[in-house]
Amino acid sequence: MVEPILEEWKPVVFASFFFSIFSASFRIMNKRLLYVCCMLVTAVAVFSRCFHGEAKETPDLRGEQFAGAETCISCHKDIYKTFITTGHYATSRPATDSTVQGSFAAPGNVFYYNDSVKVVMEKRDSGLFQVAYHKDRQQQIHRFDIAFGSGRKAQTYLYWQDNKYFQLPVSYLVPAHSWANSPGFPATQVRFDRPIPSTCFGCHSSMVGISDTKMVGLSISEEFEKNKVVYGIDCERCHGPAAKHVDFHVEHPLEKKAMFITTISSLNNQQKLDMCALCHSGIRPAQKSPFTFKPGNRLSDYIFMDIGPAPKATTLDVHGTQYQLFTSSKCFLKSNGTMNCSTCHNPHVNERNDMQAFSQKCMSCHNTDNHTFCTMKALAPALLKKNCIDCHMPALPSGNITLLVNGHDSPVPDYIRTHLITTYQEETQKVVEMLKQQQKHL
Ligand code: HEC
Ligand code: HEC
Ligand code: HEC
Ligand code: HEC
Ligand code: HEC
Ligand code: HEC
Ligand code: HEC
Repeated sequence: MVEPILEEWKPVVFASFFFSIFSASFRIMNKRLLYVCCMLVTAVAVFSRCFHGEAKETPDLRGEQFAGAETCISCHKDIYKTFITTGHYATSRPATDSTVQGSFAAPGNVFYYNDSVKVVMEKRDSGLFQVAYHKDRQQQIHRFDIAFGSGRKAQTYLYWQDNKYFQLPVSYLVPAHSWANSPGFPATQVRFDRPIPSTCFGCHSSMVGISDTKMVGLSISEEFEKNKVVYGIDCERCHGPAAKHVDFHVEHPLEKKAMFITTISSLNNQQKLDMCALCHSGIRPAQKSPFTFKPGNRLSDYIFMDIGPAPKATTLDVHGTQYQLFTSSKCFLKSNGTMNCSTCHNPHVNERNDMQAFSQKCMSCHNTDNHTFCTMKALAPALLKKNCIDCHMPALPSGNITLLVNGHDSPVPDYIRTHLITTYQEETQKVVEMLKQQQKHL
């Protein structure tokens, strides 16, 4: 069966190339911090409902082949329970009190452009708004409709008007606990006129309904169907359509072998990498709708890997060039095609900031017994074992993304965890210094 919405994507493929150029100035913030507890609330809300794995009343926006993540709960409860704490699950959501991270209370709800121009984040009876003022006279007002970014590092917001999505001028920067000028927006002038292309939804949602696409001069103008978004990156975004799988297992509850779903262990290593690289190889021009990608498909059939500026191994990109960085690392190159993202990441679990757990993964290959352990002699092995990551995969400023934050004279740099696993002398010095300080205080 053909999904009407998937079909409508086609013209967008061309749009994405233009977008990739325009997006160079369009980057978001970084650095990790603790997670949003509101997701627990969501979890409770979701679990308080009853699920039987039966056909849902409202069909999935993506078509009959899709069952929707909530259908999976009845048989994959443990996975679902931890999955809703991940960045993937929450990377796009309707903007509400609980999903928008920043403050709506004075004085923390203002972003100043200069002495007379400001944007105030206001909670009114009809919702959440960004309101632009000139000398305290209201100039423009737009609603927070969608929040992009789970809130690990940054959130940016979309409003809906004339069948389009536009980005709001003020974003939220988690590490600074502050509202900030949206990336690529002018610092002196309030703008509400930047349309958000479907490309953003391609990596940050599981489906968006597009109603029209046309060329306006050299750029693409897209129109969307209102409220037609499958938020977050859900189970079927990674595993492919699963309605048949659900129907079969509902009818055959004793069957223990997975039917009508791609078994990940049957894929080769490149196919496993491609599942993640679809969204983790930076913003590249697309050949096909990313929403149609299924496990086993080839990345090179979906993305033009050679057109436009190539993300280099040394370039850090907020939109994640983890694929290029990791596959340039010696660990990957010298382990005979056995390593992929799942060597270190469980995509169903939020393992953020657990450096010891990640270090255990390193030591599954690099251990003291087989003499492949760290050759650094300045610290005792017991100390090294606590955190391989900050020395060999340091969080580095990406260089090309900065945001202007209230109270900071210069832009705040964007930090990202490099996936080029190698030796970083400067970062090592910092870690050694930090450990020495800690020892002093013991
Ligand atoms: C009625 C029960 C049932 C429902 C509902 C169900 N599954 Fe499954 N699923 C199974 C069984 C049984 C297996 C095989 C045992 C296992 O791996 O847990 C399985 C296995 C899987 C696998 C493993 C494939 C592999 O790599 O081995 C995936 C992926 C999967 N299901 C996805 C989903 C998704 C996505 C949904 C919701 C859209 C879903 N399932 C809903 C019963 C179900
Ligand atoms: C090719 C896929 C891709 C596209 C296209 C894309 N993003 Fe992202 N985006 C990502 C990935 C991956 C991350 C997480 C990067 C990381 O932490 O390493 C991210 C991070 C973000 C974040 C920060 C979330 C957080 O807390 O870490 C925001 C906000 C964001 N993107 C907004 C956008 C907007 C707006 C667009 C469209 C202009 C867009 N993205 C287009 C893949 C994409
Ligand atoms: C970001 C992509 C991604 C998302 C989202 C995702 N999975 Fe998976 N899933 C994977 C990968 C990759 C594997 C294989 C893991 C491995 O090889 O260790 C996997 C394995 C599985 C398996 C079989 C192995 C196991 O852990 O039992 C099941 C069942 C499964 N997923 C169900 C789900 C369900 C249900 C959801 C949604 C609640 C979901 N997945 C969401 C990527 C994803
Ligand atoms: C459909 C696009 C897409 C796919 C496919 C995808 N990711 Fe992501 N991933 C994202 C986006 C967007 C973010 C940023 C989430 C946020 O807002 O915090 C992200 C964030 C992450 C993070 C950090 C988030 C956290 O919770 O700490 C990890 C780790 C990650 N992805 C690993 C993977 C792996 C491994 C795979 C393949 C199994 C994969 N991703 C597949 C889009 C994707
Ligand atoms: C699947 C096994 C495996 C895992 C897991 C693994 N590595 Fe490696 N790593 C290797 C191999 C093989 C080499 C190449 C050794 C050689 O021949 O020099 C290597 C090389 C390295 C090097 C030398 C790189 C260079 O540029 O000289 C460092 C540093 C390193 N690994 C650190 C790590 C860290 C830190 C982790 C965890 C985040 C990790 N490795 C996880 C297999 C692995
Ligand atoms: C050798 C282990 C290892 C492998 C393999 C690996 N990662 Fe990571 N990844 C890490 C560690 C460690 C972190 C840092 C986690 C943290 O800070 O909480 C991380 C963080 C991330 C983040 C968050 C980035 C940020 O700056 O917050 C994303 C996204 C991600 N990985 C995606 C991927 C993808 C996609 C792949 C496969 C192409 C991959 N990783 C392969 C170890 C690995
Ligand atoms: C304090 C920083 C630091 C920590 C922590 C650390 N390393 Fe290292 N590692 C280094 C440096 C620096 C080198 C290069 C050798 C030197 O300068 O002494 C190195 C060398 C290595 C090498 C050999 C690289 C080569 O050239 O062949 C491997 C493998 C490695 N480390 C793995 C690990 C693993 C695994 C862990 C965690 C158990 C770890 N390292 C913890 C700083 C660190």
